[in-house]
Amino acid sequence: MRREVPLAVRAYEQLGEELTALWSDETDFFVRAANMAALLFWRLPEVNWVGFYLRDGDDLLLGPFQGRPACQRIPIGRGVCGQAALRRQPIIVPDVSAFPDYIACSPETRAELVVPMVAGDVLCGVIDLDSPWLDRFMQEDAQGIQQLVHRLIAGSDLKRLQRYYRW
Ligand code: SME
Repeated sequence: MRREVPLAVRAYEQLGEELTALWSDETDFFVRAANMAALLFWRLPEVNWVGFYLRDGDDLLLGPFQGRPACQRIPIGRGVCGQAALRRQPIIVPDVSAFPDYIACSPETRAELVVPMVAGDVLCGVIDLDSPWLDRFMQEDAQGIQQLVHRLIAGSDLKRLQRYYRW
């Protein structure tokens, strides 16, 4: 008997392989993050925004993204992004209208997933995915995105990034 691997897990493994091929030997974080946001935005179903917020001191600043223009600066602790950054844990929001202190960037968004990016023990930002569908994101999505974030961090020149942001 073989244990079935959930479809979503396989889809994220496939995306991980595609990203690694796409990134090739490029180590610039912004180049990698920009293509990661684009790939996820165009390939994941029912997603209307995918992007990064990079930590600068006590704030998260808008980074590479795909979707409509979004809020630019989020204090750590505020909104879904700020809470995920503070707790350093992924947050799945099935219904954004039920999340206290939710920061609305687009009226279409109904569900959200935020995964923090931690390098060693340093918080360097979050990745945020929005969906127009209630209850869009599952544990498999959080785990899949976490694996992709590990790939992103592992191959990026973080010292170069750190010259610009305050961690
Ligand atoms: N909704 C997020 C803000 C960022 S946008 O969704 C792109 C939040 O509550 O942190």
